[in-house]
Amino acid sequence: MKSVLVIGASRGIGLAVVKRALGGGHSLRAFARSAARIDIDDPRLERVEGDARSPEDLGRALTGTDAVVLSLGVPPGAGFIIGPVDLFSSATRALLPAMRETGVRRLIAVTGFGAGDSRAAIPLLQRLPFQLVFGRAYADKTVQEQLIRDSGLDWTLVRPGVLTNGRATRRYSVLSEPATWRNGIVSRADVADFIVAQLDSRDFVHRAPVVIG
Ligand SMILES: NC(=O)c1ccc[n+]([C@@H]2O[C@H](COP(=O)([O-])OP(=O)(O)OC[C@H]3O[C@@H](n4cnc5c(N)ncnc54)[C@H](OP(=O)(O)O)[C@@H]3O)[C@@H](O)[C@H]2O)c1
Repeated sequence: MKSVLVIGASRGIGLAVVKRALGGGHSLRAFARSAARIDIDDPRLERVEGDARSPEDLGRALTGTDAVVLSLGVPPGAGFIIGPVDLFSSATRALLPAMRETGVRRLIAVTGFGAGDSRAAIPLLQRLPFQLVFGRAYADKTVQEQLIRDSGLDWTLVRPGVLTNGRATRRYSVLSEPATWRNGIVSRADVADFIVAQLDSRDFVHRAPVVIG
């Protein structure tokens, strides 16, 4: 059983990872600015309030953990309506040295279909709308992916398709080969299931699969 730091644990995939990992017997440190609001009663859950862009907050949260799940998100419309996005890259720039200093090597980071080299798999007609709505966020996710690839850590990049709040089906597809990459719909619970399975596996170390339902 592992002691896992989940960054971005108050909502979405991060919260789903917390629930799934507790079910799998792991101990969790749940990190977010609003971590205190996480409504789960379990002695193996520790809530840590902090900002993912703060090396000090991250250093404290990392101590004594075996692995990190990074699942940050920005509000809908970020980059499109409310200015540039640098959360993904700035938090990653703070996290990687803190992981090296504390000796934590395993990093599983959620980015998305369309980040990094998976951008080439977006169908031609969808590229312009994707760029308009998600362009700035995904440009920053691409920077984040490259920082992680260059980190020397045992990383996995997880690139979900379009997310839903549906239940876990455990019948999702994990597409590792670029020729198979395509967009699709997947529940946050299924993405969390894949992430938690990676805590005990090296199958996807240094890989960047697309995950769809
Ligand atoms: N929506 C989609 O269809 C889709 C598709 C593919 C990929 N994705 C990606 O999947 C990821 C997860 O998305 P989601 O919708 O499941 O989650 P989400 O609701 O966007 O949750 C984001 C998490 O990040 C935390 N966070 C944001 N800024 C922070 C900061 N400065 N310091 C610490 N924590 C911070 C939030 O907590 P606090 O606010 O409490 O700090 C929250 O726990 C995102 O990267 C998203 O872009 C989404």
